[in-house]
Amino acid sequence: MAGLTTPYVARIRTKKHCGAPALRESPIVSLLNWTGAKSRQPIKKIDRIKSPPIKCQGIKTKLTRFIAESVHWTGRGRWVEPFLGSGAVLFNIRPQRAMVSDSNVHIINVYNEIKNGKVTPQQLSNFLYSEGKILLQKGMEYFYHVRERFNNNPNSFDFIFLTRSCFNGVMRFNKKGYFNVPFCKKTDRFRQAYITKIVNQIAWVQSLIKKHDWEFITRDWKETLANVSRDDFVYADPPYSGRHTDYYNKWSDEENQELIDHLLNIHCGFALSTWYENKYRKNPIFDLISNYPLVVKKFDHFYHVGSSETYRNKMIEALVIDREHAR
Ligand SMILES: C[S@@+](CC[C@H](N)C(=O)[O-])C[C@H]1O[C@@H](n2cnc3c(N)ncnc32)[C@H](O)[C@@H]1O
Repeated sequence: MAGLTTPYVARIRTKKHCGAPALRESPIVSLLNWTGAKSRQPIKKIDRIKSPPIKCQGIKTKLTRFIAESVHWTGRGRWVEPFLGSGAVLFNIRPQRAMVSDSNVHIINVYNEIKNGKVTPQQLSNFLYSEGKILLQKGMEYFYHVRERFNNNPNSFDFIFLTRSCFNGVMRFNKKGYFNVPFCKKTDRFRQAYITKIVNQIAWVQSLIKKHDWEFITRDWKETLANVSRDDFVYADPPYSGRHTDYYNKWSDEENQELIDHLLNIHCGFALSTWYENKYRKNPIFDLISNYPLVVKKFDHFYHVGSSETYRNKMIEALVIDREHAR
């Protein structure tokens, strides 16, 4: 990964970041010597983490409590998530106001259709029950029939059906943007207990959406970050470059660097999820950002889901937080 560009570094060094001390005087602080934590409240104490109805690569269900407890934010502005994915972090942290987005139109459509009543728990229950019955009778060819139906005419019901009956339960799209995950091979996938579980997840998200002021938008992260205000807080969880590449996850080292440049210049608090190290190497960005007023917190994580065995191993995850908003 190339270093931050010289003009960019020069520009940022003349600025103060979110009221923090000047950048030259503000090296990265590790979790161990960070003493600001005690006096600051976490965003939220989460009693029980719940899973959202959609799963995606890099889902942060297991890290949500760590994220919520690592960050301090007044909650006055909006929670901004430019890489929403499954929504696991938003739904568990539950800020009053949020502007969340993703380049994946299918995910955003599901949440907007729950919001506007086009997808209800009852309708989904009926749909999964009747489609699950046909799957049981016809076998795997019916999964491929639904996949083709969805690729010709994308809709939220088929999307949920596919993501909940495909191999590994994650989503992946080919270069043309077509869903291409194979069948999980269980023709009795949609048993009553499984349908109830999915429908309860939809009902949970529906009740949250009703109670909160949340905007779901399909768009590129740059546009979302261009629309933040001072009291907002950005939680950015981009794809990890080289890890899961598909139509909606084309993430390069250059784009990663551009995102970091944006965040270092942003006029509100932020936290960035990224990887710290795996058994092969340490993330090179940590050397590049070591002179900025940031706090880095680490979390050991084991990935069970991955396109190949190499990706299903231990990874130390990092949360990079601007110092003003770190606990
Ligand atoms: C690691 S996942 C986010 C996971 C999420 N935090 C969760 O817990 O489910 C990254 C997401 O970024 C989205 N994405 C990839 N490139 C994007 C871009 N250029 N602009 C906006 N979203 C993008 C992907 O569609 C994917 O949903």
